[in-house]
Amino acid sequence: MGNNIVVAIDGYSSCGKSTLAKALAKKLNYIYVDSGAMYRAVTLYFLRNNIDLNDHDSIEQALKNIHLNFHSRDYESHITLNDEEVSEEIRQMPVSTNVSPVSALKEVRREMVKQQQRMGRSKNIVMDGRDIGTAVFPNASLKLFMTADPKVRAERRYKEIHTKNPEVTLAEVFENIAQRDYADTTRAESPLVRADDAVILDNTNLTPEQQLQFALDRITPLLKV
Ligand code: DC
Repeated sequence: MGNNIVVAIDGYSSCGKSTLAKALAKKLNYIYVDSGAMYRAVTLYFLRNNIDLNDHDSIEQALKNIHLNFHSRDYESHITLNDEEVSEEIRQMPVSTNVSPVSALKEVRREMVKQQQRMGRSKNIVMDGRDIGTAVFPNASLKLFMTADPKVRAERRYKEIHTKNPEVTLAEVFENIAQRDYADTTRAESPLVRADDAVILDNTNLTPEQQLQFALDRITPLLKV
């Protein structure tokens, strides 16, 4: 890493990582990189091309054919998969339910981490994910580890998706969050763990403004050095 600033934000699902990362990037005029979107786009490609997750040669070959790019518009990150805008499609259920096993594959992680490290080599960035402060940027300028009460996370996510998907229940959302927490923290490859030097940010009782202030209070002293 050069003299550029890298802010690494890791944490559980539906904790508001991307809300904070976007707000921080906007405030500091940094580039926001949503690493989860990369795993989601790879999953979309695997689904479309029926890649067998046990066939390591097909996985390696598929990864060679995948070209991902981020385009930032108003600090909303948009991702393209082989030049096709897929930002909407990667948030739909087929990808959401298949992304965990894809993101657990060694070959996939190796390639994504390589691309993520390249992005952070020369620019000031805020990147959110699960292994950013541990595997991708162990020397990040600031590491935040976000958490919140699972019930509060489920209620927030439920409110978000209820209008579009009225058939989904709060209990289902809670169950999905519990399953993803389990999968993310117990997988063999780069499980979600707090880096020793990451600052814990529990936003159970914080507003988005308060969590942004929490992060700014920690990054501002680093910018003066
Ligand atoms: O943050 P998200 O829900 O969009 O992430 C989608 C999936 O990708 C999630 O199951 C965890 C995985 N992921 C990962 O393994 N490593 C990252 N750096 C980011 C996401």
